[in-house]
Amino acid sequence: MQKVLVTGGAGYIGSHTSLVLLEKGYEVVILDNLCNSSEESIRRVEKLTGKKITFYNVDLMDKEATLEVLNKEPNIDSVIHFAALKAVGESVQKPLIYYNNNISGTINLLECMQETGVNNIVFSSSATVYGDAKEIPVPETAPLGATNPYGQTKLMMETILTDCAKANEKMNVTLLRYFNPVGAHESGEIGEDPEYPNNLLPFVQQVAAGIRPKVFIFGDDYDTPDGTGVRDYIHVMDLAEAHEAAIAKMNGVKVYNVGTGTGYSVKEMIESFRQISGSEISAEITARREGDVAMLTPKAELIKDELGCEAKRGLTEMITDAWHWQSQNPKGFRE
Ligand code: NAD
Ligand code: UD1
Repeated sequence: MQKVLVTGGAGYIGSHTSLVLLEKGYEVVILDNLCNSSEESIRRVEKLTGKKITFYNVDLMDKEATLEVLNKEPNIDSVIHFAALKAVGESVQKPLIYYNNNISGTINLLECMQETGVNNIVFSSSATVYGDAKEIPVPETAPLGATNPYGQTKLMMETILTDCAKANEKMNVTLLRYFNPVGAHESGEIGEDPEYPNNLLPFVQQVAAGIRPKVFIFGDDYDTPDGTGVRDYIHVMDLAEAHEAAIAKMNGVKVYNVGTGTGYSVKEMIESFRQISGSEISAEITARREGDVAMLTPKAELIKDELGCEAKRGLTEMITDAWHWQSQNPKGFRE
């Protein structure tokens, strides 16, 4: 049985990935400081799978405590590194907190891996590393650039990981560049739980549930078919399965886009949510959000060709599962 250390495993994508790993027979160890999550998500994953997770409430900024985890858990085969701060707007306001947490946390983790001989790591990167991409759909080989401190941390972490692999031929690094993860596990037991949502779908979910009065559409004058921004939304369970495929087939440094290859506009997303949830969902057009681009969708074939991994769930499933989670857990895990 392979053993995987999941940093940030109590969070949104980490909890779904831990569930997939347990179901596929992996042993899962989670390290998380719960700064943006709740231990309840781990309990629910255990309940859903009927399997145990070893959980350490540890901050990656605390190198000694991180090393203690790796020493206590010998024979870790791979690490999936989700733990990071991820709010773009906040990163502009508080850049040092973002650089410190995301970069120092990653360096501590890599040092601890080196000291204990763990050589395989899958990293949560983001489409944000393409900045304002010129070529759409964007291939993995496109020029990179970030437009905010959060994006800079993702770019830097990609570079640090790649340099570490260059220096150590035993090391395998897979960088997964996620597009827009949405939805929840079909049980409705785990899902995304932001108190103050920044991303579109969690905001729409909370409007549908009556927690917020209306959704603001950030601009309808983009050069897109209906004037609103177009993104590639991917079901979080498809994304979780991509992580399992990645750790099952590590080989040097690899970089993959993880998306579906199909883009939807803001208006299309809201309309689908209206139809599936039966909620009215008031919407108001407002100014563009600073830093937004008109359209960002990936070339999504490489991960299919090399890892045999393809997104199976469509928009209806994404929204049905998001709504199931939201309506079943109006306060997320905070009840
Ligand atoms: P999340 O906030 O739900 O999960 C991140 C987890 O990391 C949280 O549980 C948090 O408590 C933990 N954490 C943060 N800093 C830590 C530290 N110093 N030590 C220990 N634990 C720490 O976010 P998510 O949506 O699940 O995202 C997971 C990863 O995927 C992040 O790296 C994020 O940048 C990346 N990503 C997310 C999206 C998205 O839309 N959700 C898109 C692209 C990339
Ligand atoms: C955002 C981040 C990106 C990050 C990703 C996942 C920015 C500029 N980009 O991507 O770095 O990796 O989240 O965390 O923040 N929208 C509205 N109203 C809302 C919210 C969003 O109209 O209340 C629109 C946006 O303008 C965009 C689309 O919905 O066109 C998707 O937005 P969002 O969910 O925030 O994702 P991204 O901007 O693609």
